[in-house]
Parts: sequence; structure tokens; C-alpha cells
Amino acid sequence: MCGIVGYIGGKEALPVLLNGLKRLEYRGYDSAGIALFGPEGLTVHKSKGRIRELEEKISAEKLPGMAGIGHTRWATHGEPSDINSHPQTDAEGRVAVVHNGIIENYGRLKEWLISKGLGFKSETDTEVVANLINFYYKDDILSAVREAVKRLEGSYALGIIAAGESDRIIAVRRESPLVVGLGKGENLIASDVPALLEYTREVYYLEDGEIAALYRDRAEVYNGEGQVIEKEVSLIRWDAAAAEKGGFEHFMLKEIHEQPRALTDTLRARIRTNTGAAASIDLEEIGFNKSWAAENAGRVVITACGTAWHAGVIGKYAFERYAGIPVDVDTASEFRYRNPVFDSKDICIVISQSGETADTLAAMRLAKQRGAGIIAITNVAGSTLAREAGLVMYTWAGPEIAVASTKAFTTQLACLYLIALKFGVLRGRIQDTDMVKYIEALEAIPAHAETILSGKANIQRFASLQFNKNKVFFMGRLFDYAACLESALKLKEISYTHSEAFAAGEIKHGPIALVDTSTLIVALCTQSSLFDKMESSITQVKARGAAVAVITWEDCKHFDGIADEVFRIPKTEDGFSPILSVIPAQLFAYYCSVLRGLDPDKPRNLAKSVTVE
Ligand code: AGP
Ligand code: GLU
Repeated sequence: MCGIVGYIGGKEALPVLLNGLKRLEYRGYDSAGIALFGPEGLTVHKSKGRIRELEEKISAEKLPGMAGIGHTRWATHGEPSDINSHPQTDAEGRVAVVHNGIIENYGRLKEWLISKGLGFKSETDTEVVANLINFYYKDDILSAVREAVKRLEGSYALGIIAAGESDRIIAVRRESPLVVGLGKGENLIASDVPALLEYTREVYYLEDGEIAALYRDRAEVYNGEGQVIEKEVSLIRWDAAAAEKGGFEHFMLKEIHEQPRALTDTLRARIRTNTGAAASIDLEEIGFNKSWAAENAGRVVITACGTAWHAGVIGKYAFERYAGIPVDVDTASEFRYRNPVFDSKDICIVISQSGETADTLAAMRLAKQRGAGIIAITNVAGSTLAREAGLVMYTWAGPEIAVASTKAFTTQLACLYLIALKFGVLRGRIQDTDMVKYIEALEAIPAHAETILSGKANIQRFASLQFNKNKVFFMGRLFDYAACLESALKLKEISYTHSEAFAAGEIKHGPIALVDTSTLIVALCTQSSLFDKMESSITQVKARGAAVAVITWEDCKHFDGIADEVFRIPKTEDGFSPILSVIPAQLFAYYCSVLRGLDPDKPRNLAKSVTVE
């Protein structure tokens, strides 16, 4: 996820672009850059690091110019570096492009462009876009963009300028946000409205496939066939601070809502359905092919902290179920001080949103030193974990700002399911017909997440009845137990409620002593073969006076009349349930926090990135 801006008008463009980028820095902050039309033609300035580093770099230069584009990056393709920063230009330097999104077919396009004699400097997918546009560019940048985007697969919001056409900026989008700001004698583009608010409150929201041409005095919008569209002007009423959260009250709520998009990005880049053959999972990015899996199929060890460790626990269940591989999972802070024993055929999967957690890095180094092959699952390109691990699988969740992790967790799960299933296929444990079923189930997950989010008012109502509870316990079996660990952590982190997770079968071995009439028990019930067992556990806690809420499948009637509340989620493969069942728990934690008058984004005593022991 990146931030893009563009300006054309009567002011000097540089301060407007930098100002806009600062407002979008929450979207990405590993590098920044601008391209301007000045007296010397089109010039590009970019730098690894934060926007202030770009400012320092260009502070000595005089950069007049009334039009330009800018970018603040959150790298997906190629590590954060000056060269990989945007704007990216084509090999001849005629076209400059800023991009938010992922071009999924960039590899094939790159090969094709290389076969046409074009050279590449960066590792980005965006440079392919610049070269492709230039390939079609004769004397009209608008039609060149129209031709080029026909060949792009994936997601993009693009801001484009061409050396010979300083009177206009072109913008186009598909599945990544882009807003056109309509000013007086000036027009702008931005990934999000906060970058526009100082200049205008009148905007066009571009739809997928629409192309905009911005001139100083007007903005025209076309459809993919080149016909002009009459767009409706929308009026922004947010104040700037609220808008930075995209209209949500808190980053956490925004990030919870970003899960369908984040899951789509994370899953779709690895699922191949367009080959004419049966759908498959492509994990070449982590060197995952038949011979590698055959040589390294001994045992999997997973290590991580906090939420990422919970993803690892679910990963263990998934690896055992779908790939038949023995798995050890441990928190990194324990792992690093144990005497973990490795075989050279073992793989260690290290999971970290930030890629900077001190215990996790130490655990990864120890596993490496003891001869394990390392696969990192992380959300931050260029992080220490990504650099040191060797093989990296990115969660394409975009920057996660709220301290309580949400979209990073569900995208970590998506990665783990993909690896487990791939392993299962390579080891001959999964037949083609089952694989088709699993892939269909994974592909449906983002839409199911959206359905759960659309029912959030029901969770809010429930939270308004329960937020003052002092004890909230989550219980479940198998995948549900693992999802309970994360659900309980969310609630304790941001609402400071005493909340714990129990394997439902363990309740009677001790924890039931804590249960009384003041206790709320949330029972996760998605493992269809164990519904009767869950029913017994529920009746045991109800007999001690606890209130019980159940989260189960939409078509499950098993717990009606047994639980006090039943929340239903769309049905998926039982083993994939945590990716969905955690969403109501995230929302419940969020609403309890707000109802208790707390700030869910910045819970007491916690920090987003734990870089110390
Ligand atoms: C999650 O809500 C937490 N704040 C915390 O447990 C976090 O998951 C943990 O510190 C690990 O962070 P990482 O994924 O960046 O390594
Ligand atoms: N794919 C582009 C890059 O890696 C843009 C990244 C994004 O929007 O997240 O540079």
C-alpha cells in the first residue's frame, strides 16, 4: 500500500506534493519521490526513507514547476531503495509513473518488454508499467495509458506524466483507491482525501477502469473505450484528522475493514487460475517447488510472538491436517532460550508483522545457525527479518498502524494455509479434486469477511451489553482453540478485560473453578465433527451460571436454545475457520474498548513494534 499524489495548477507544485505525501505517510513510509515539470523538462527526485529524507535531499535544489506527481512507498516488489522508489520512469525517460498496488503479470510483461529491447533498472512491478506506457506512446499520453492498462492484471492506482505534455497529468485506477480533487485553477489526485483537503473539498471518486486527464482548468474522465463520462462531484465533509483514518474513528477499525482487500491481495498473487489447467498455488517466491519440498520435508518449526505466534499455532494444525508434517510451534522468547534441536531437513517458519521483533529475530538467527532452512512471513519489505531470512513470503496487508494486530494476523493465516496446502500437494497428500475445493474456499474468504463486517452492528449491540464484564473466557477445540488464543489477546490488549483462552476439553481440569455468574464465555464452534463435545462444555459452564455466546457457521442450528447468543459466520472449510471467526472477536474487542472510554489504537503499556527483549 502506497500513497500517491499529483498536482497541476498555478502554485509551485513541490510544496503541494510534499504536503500531500505527508498526509498519506500512514499508507507507506519506506521511500518517497516526486517528478516535476520544470524549466529543464521532466525531473525525478527520490530517496529511500521517510519523506523528510527526500526533503533534505532536495532542499538545496530549486525546483520550480506547476505540475508533478509524488509517492510515498510501502514496497511490495523490490526492497526499499533509491532505485526502487517511485516515480519510476521508462528506459527512455519519457514517462514517469507513481503506483499503488501490485501488477500480478509484471513478470511476463517484463520478459516481453526485454524481448523488445527495453532495459530495466529497478526490481519493481511499476517500472514495467512505465515501459509499457512508453511502448504505446507516440504523441498522446492519454491513449498510450489506455492501451497499456488493457494489458495489466492486478491492482493499481497510477499517476502518470509524460515529458512532452506538461499541460496534463493522467490518472487511472483498478482496485486501488484514487480520488480526483477539483480546485479553482488547479486540480489534484491522491490516494486518500487528507492530501486534498487543504485545496478543495470537491472530488470525483474514480471507479475501476476510469481514466482521468487533469489540466490546470479542468478534469476530464473517460471510460476504458475513451468516451467522456459525466462524473458526479462529491463533497467531502470530514475534518483532516478523521480523513486520515479514511473516515473511520480509529485505525484499528479501519484495519479490521481492510481485511477483505488485504486477504485478496495476499491470496490472489499466489493462486493461479488463469492457466487453463486446474487451479494451483504458486510459491516459487519462497523457492517452494517439488525438489525443494522433497529435500526439506522433515519437520516444520514455527516461531513468533504474540498475535503472530497465534497464527503459528493455527499453522501447526493446518500443516498437520493438510500436509501430514510434524510441527513444533513455540513463542520466540521461549524458543531462543531452549535448546531447539534441528535436522538439516527441518524448516523454520518465522512470522512477524513488523519483521523487527527482537525475540523473533533472535529465534530466527538461532534456527539458522543450527542449520534449519528459514522461511519468513512478514508484512514489511526490507525489514531485518526479510533481509536475513533468505526466503520471504509477504503478507500484503499494507501498513498496520493500530497496536492491536488485525489484518496482519488474517493475512499471516492466508500465507500459512497456502504453504500447508502446497506442501500437501507436493507430498501427494492432497488430490486434485480436493485442491480445487480448497482453492475455491480460499478464494471465497475475502467476500465472507466482507459479509461478517456488514453485520458489525450486531456485535456492537452485544458489546454494549457485555463491555463491563470482568471475566471473558474464550473456549474451543482444534482450530477454534487456536482462534480463541487470538480472540482473548485482542480483548485484553485494548479493553483491559481479564480474558483467557481455554481448550474446551481442559475447562474441567481447572479453569472451570473461575467460572461464576459474572463470567462471559465465548465458545467458538466451527469444527463440525466436535459440535457434541462443544455442547457438553457449554452446558458445564452454563451450569455454573456463565453467560454463553457461540460463534458458529451460518447454517448451524446445533447451539440454538443452548447458548444465550449465537453469532453466525459464512461457512468455509472447517480448517480455515479462524480467518473468519476472529473477525467478530476483533470487532467485539474494539467496541468494548471504545465503550470503556479507551483508545483502541494506543493501548496502555504496549508498543507497535517490540524491538527490545
Ligand atoms: C498484537 O495485537 C500485538 N500487539 C503483539 O502481540 C504482536 O503481535 C507481537 O508483538 C509480534 O509483533 P510482530 O508480528 O511485529 O513480530
Ligand atoms: N508494487 C509497487 C512497488 O513495490 C507499489 C507498492 C504498493 O502500492 O504497495 O513499488
